[in-house]
Amino acid sequence: MEHSQVAIIGSGLIGRSWAMVFAAGGFKVKLYDIAQQQLTSALENIRKQMKEMEKSGFLKGSSSAEQQFALISVCTDLKAAVEGAAFIQECTPENLELKKKIFGQLDLIVGDNVILSSSTSCLLPSKLFAGLKHVKQCIVSHPVNPPYFVPLVEIVPHPETDPSTTERTYALMKKIGQSPVKLNREIEGFVLNRLQYAVISEAWRLVGEGVISPTDLDLVMSDGLGMRYAFIGPLETMHLNAEGIASYCERYSEGMRLVLNTFGPVPEFSGEVVQKVNQAMTEKIPVVPKVLDARRKWRDECLSGLAKLKTQMKSN
Ligand code: NAI
Repeated sequence: MEHSQVAIIGSGLIGRSWAMVFAAGGFKVKLYDIAQQQLTSALENIRKQMKEMEKSGFLKGSSSAEQQFALISVCTDLKAAVEGAAFIQECTPENLELKKKIFGQLDLIVGDNVILSSSTSCLLPSKLFAGLKHVKQCIVSHPVNPPYFVPLVEIVPHPETDPSTTERTYALMKKIGQSPVKLNREIEGFVLNRLQYAVISEAWRLVGEGVISPTDLDLVMSDGLGMRYAFIGPLETMHLNAEGIASYCERYSEGMRLVLNTFGPVPEFSGEVVQKVNQAMTEKIPVVPKVLDARRKWRDECLSGLAKLKTQMKSN
């Protein structure tokens, strides 16, 4: 990326985290929101998080928390926010009409070299960027919550996105320490949520049919499959669990198809199963803001520890 300045549109959960990721990468960040109060609370929250992470040794980047924090400024004027930015990451609520309006406004004020990127979790680029003059410069960069600790970014082009936009976005994500993947075309749910929903729906069916309890179901992932998946994906797992992929397919494809043919229909995610799962989850983690926040904090500490371990294992 030629310039080292980015603009973040929307300073909620994801906008704040992106701001921290870019600041850790040495970028100047302008954080824009319609609500001044949101910006004030975003800055307070970012400073607190950076300080805490510096203390616990989890701060990303090579500069201090104070230096990184100094790179972030806030703004309630859209034009001023994007001035001088080579990359704009939109992080407003998941609402097609709202996002279309914002991209419409950006379309009128940006030059021909700026990348317009959206954090959307599920809106398709063809809907989001339809009719924009700068459509060649538009792309989805879908992060995983929280992007500061989980580096994956799904890069999803609009059919008319210029390949150079995809390449520049990919290179930028690498530069700031994220782990980008490119989708060759848009698809509902992109890839991460398609995989996630496949797991959730089978988990739901197994609990619904009484095969296993909700807490044991979660253990299958956290103490079983997930242990490997933090380091290698399902395809490499197949490769290593036999003498290569071809040998795996030879040995296991019949068994896999037998099991896959017993999978049930898409669950409704309502009724008795909700009650059953809810009871198990709330026994373990009551739905009380303080308890939920403590558990999220613990999750983020686990994720940052895991990120450290992954870096260590890569350099070994
Ligand atoms: P949020 O509700 O925490 O934050 C949205 C922010 O946008 C708020 O600060 C709000 O004041 C601001 N906003 C509202 N209207 C605006 C406007 N017209 N101009 C500028 N700012 C405006 O939402 P969150 O969770 O940060 O999500 C943002 C985006 O990131 C969504 O598209 C969401 O799907 C996506 N995303 C969310 C993930 C999550 O787990 N929360 C994960 C990956 C992507």
